[in-house]
Amino acid sequence: MEGTNLHQIGVSFKGSGSYVPNQILTNKKISKKVDTSDEWIRSRTGISQRRISGLSETVSEMGYKAALAAIEMSKWDLETIDLIILATSTPNDLFGSAPNIQARLGANNAVAFDLTAACSGFLFAVITASQFLKAGSYKRAIVIGADQLSSYVDWNDRRSCILFGDGAGAIAIEATNELDNLIGFSMRSDGDRGAFLNLPSQNNQDLIIDDITYLSGGYSTINMNGQEVYKFAVREVPLIIENLLKKTNFNSEKIDWLLLHQANQRILDSVGDRLNFSPEKILSNLTNYGNTSAATIPLMLDEAIRNKKIKQNDIIATSGFGAGLSWGAALIKWG
Ligand code: UT7
Repeated sequence: MEGTNLHQIGVSFKGSGSYVPNQILTNKKISKKVDTSDEWIRSRTGISQRRISGLSETVSEMGYKAALAAIEMSKWDLETIDLIILATSTPNDLFGSAPNIQARLGANNAVAFDLTAACSGFLFAVITASQFLKAGSYKRAIVIGADQLSSYVDWNDRRSCILFGDGAGAIAIEATNELDNLIGFSMRSDGDRGAFLNLPSQNNQDLIIDDITYLSGGYSTINMNGQEVYKFAVREVPLIIENLLKKTNFNSEKIDWLLLHQANQRILDSVGDRLNFSPEKILSNLTNYGNTSAATIPLMLDEAIRNKKIKQNDIIATSGFGAGLSWGAALIKWG
């Protein structure tokens, strides 16, 4: 699809969808694998269980199902979709999993590509897609957040394996010349602190022929300094949201929902507290899914829309944060 430069002024949010794998890994079951307990995990994280991908539940498959549900809610014809962005750190094809989703959907006119920013990925992808729409280059976009971290978790490391799960969520965004429901946003990166949470490549040197060597490809497992990531989140997330609210002339009273990356209930509570949000406004479903990386925000959003918690024109302050380090916030009006 080629850009047309019609210069739309804003975007509106038209639909949502999500998918989680069938296998359920409870705290009780994890306690059989590593030295932990249901009580420890619940009290330190708020997590009770997480979903783990089965054989066919790849990022493409989960992302496809989430995208299809969002398209159905938006009632769009597949041919009218111009752009598909898949936020993921765990593509089932390193060259990109988005085109596979585009093909499965039969969205023949859409350009599709992956975007990687770990747990901030979905938010960064929504903002990226919105720039194409606001510029008038494209009219309709699907943004997906999908991750399968279970493939990269060290299942013998009790400090990290209890946190993560698999899943996908998606939203449909449309250009409009009447209003802008992406009220404001902010994005940040700090590579100096990247080692607090990473998933580096692990290369072995091998010989091609004679004296010519190459590095064989592969990845290690998730490497995390939990305490440092915790401190980063409870310091930076309130700041970035606070500054965004100031910039857009909003305050916590005028916001209907606080939708944070679902990392740890204690982080959600602490950020909510710092920003003076009443607990009923803080959306949380991590007890059921754990941290699904790029999927947590659209998974939570879709659940809250489908059970009619979030309604048309509700104002949502959202923030993604995690590896990179990366973090960001956006203020959106749903609809
Ligand atoms: O998208 C971002 C992804 N990452 C995060 O969100 C991570 C943010 N950090 C956290 O959520 C928390 O730091 C954790 C939940 C990972 C850990 O909680 P904590 O309260 O910071 O625990 P800690 O690392 O300070 O460890 C306290 C104790 C230690 O024992 P000692 O040294 O005091 O004897 C750990 O060995 O708890 C022990 N411990 C565990 N015990 C039972 C660590 N993990 C476990 C466990 N079960 N799973």
